[in-house]
Amino acid sequence: MNKDFLNYQAQTSLQPLGMEIAKAKGSYLYNKEGKAYLDFVAGVSACGLGHCHPTIVKAIKNQLDLYMHVMVYGEYALAPAIEFSKLIAENTAIPTAKTYMVNSGTEAIEGALKLARRYTGRSEIIAAKNAYHGNTMGSLSLMSYEKRKTPFLPLIPEIKHISFNNTDNLTSITENTAAVILETIQGGAGFILPQNNYLQKVKARCEEVGALLILDEIQPGFGRTGKLFSYLDFNVIPDILVIGKGMASGLPAGAFVAPAKIMDSLSNNPKMGHITTFGGNPVIAAAAKATLEELLNTNLMAESLKKETLFRNLLKHPYITKIRGKGLMLAVLVQSAEIANKLILKAQEKGLILFWLLFEPKAVRITPPLTISEQEIEEGCNVILTCLNEIQNESVN
Ligand SMILES: Cc1ncc(COP(=O)(O)O)c(C=O)c1O
Repeated sequence: MNKDFLNYQAQTSLQPLGMEIAKAKGSYLYNKEGKAYLDFVAGVSACGLGHCHPTIVKAIKNQLDLYMHVMVYGEYALAPAIEFSKLIAENTAIPTAKTYMVNSGTEAIEGALKLARRYTGRSEIIAAKNAYHGNTMGSLSLMSYEKRKTPFLPLIPEIKHISFNNTDNLTSITENTAAVILETIQGGAGFILPQNNYLQKVKARCEEVGALLILDEIQPGFGRTGKLFSYLDFNVIPDILVIGKGMASGLPAGAFVAPAKIMDSLSNNPKMGHITTFGGNPVIAAAAKATLEELLNTNLMAESLKKETLFRNLLKHPYITKIRGKGLMLAVLVQSAEIANKLILKAQEKGLILFWLLFEPKAVRITPPLTISEQEIEEGCNVILTCLNEIQNESVN
């Protein structure tokens, strides 16, 4: 591994993978020696259109030739951000939707929490156990894993937790609650889908007590589960929608979206209720707009469901206990955390990128670009089965 990487760049763990990437294109990453790696992870769901999609690269280059940063978010009327926000309004089913563009998923969560408090005048936030919403102080406060939070205490107060998919807990949502925040599909917990109209029941309870429902679509969002956002399949409309990751095809981006009457409360009393220098950055907004147009003008979203079926048909092995998730947001559950670990590392040696999930050690993440071909899926699944066979043989010998 490059020593300078360890010496000069801050690390997030003691054993980073440390792959040195020279180039990335379509479904492949290439190292310095030119070895190709088929990418079943897509930058942890961020490169939905694959690497360096020509349409997105062109949109970025066109914008670079016009202007980059010219003013902090919200002061000037800049075409890329306006056009992206208009497209979001037309495609989210949120009435009178306004979009606030920021720099990352976690900042979008911070914005959504502030907006909920500002609009309702209440302070309590209810989140789900095992949820992940990001790593800044507010987002981290939503996490239920005490061990991960303790070194950073005190975090923001008045956060309560409910169990995802458990309707018995819904009475915890009361007139004191500003908002309930949920991932539509729980990501880090193992790609867990809402069941038995759970989200509709949460929304009904929120309406009863005047709380807002915030849905975090940062992982499933941008076409990964067959629709632009996964809540569109669950018959529920959030009061505040949070998006990010695949939004700008690999450039850093996030946004929160809400009906005008809610969103407008951030602009007064106090004015500038949320401000950011680079939010809605023209180059990133141009990439986001081009990403959205590409998804809306092709069959990629619908095809992700066919590709899911292909994965499910191909990935059959005694070590695989279950496949969770939807579309191209799949978690392959194996018999033990050790097998998951070995599989991820072995696959990398054989030129296939897989990855872990945050809170489910027996799961292996499969979130490839939506542009992946059926042949590439077959190739990658063969590598997974070969690795699992090898792991099985090693345990016997
Ligand atoms: C569901 C969910 N919410 C929020 C975030 C935070 O996004 P970011 O890493 O862009 O801050 C993530 C990132 O993994 C996520 O998966």
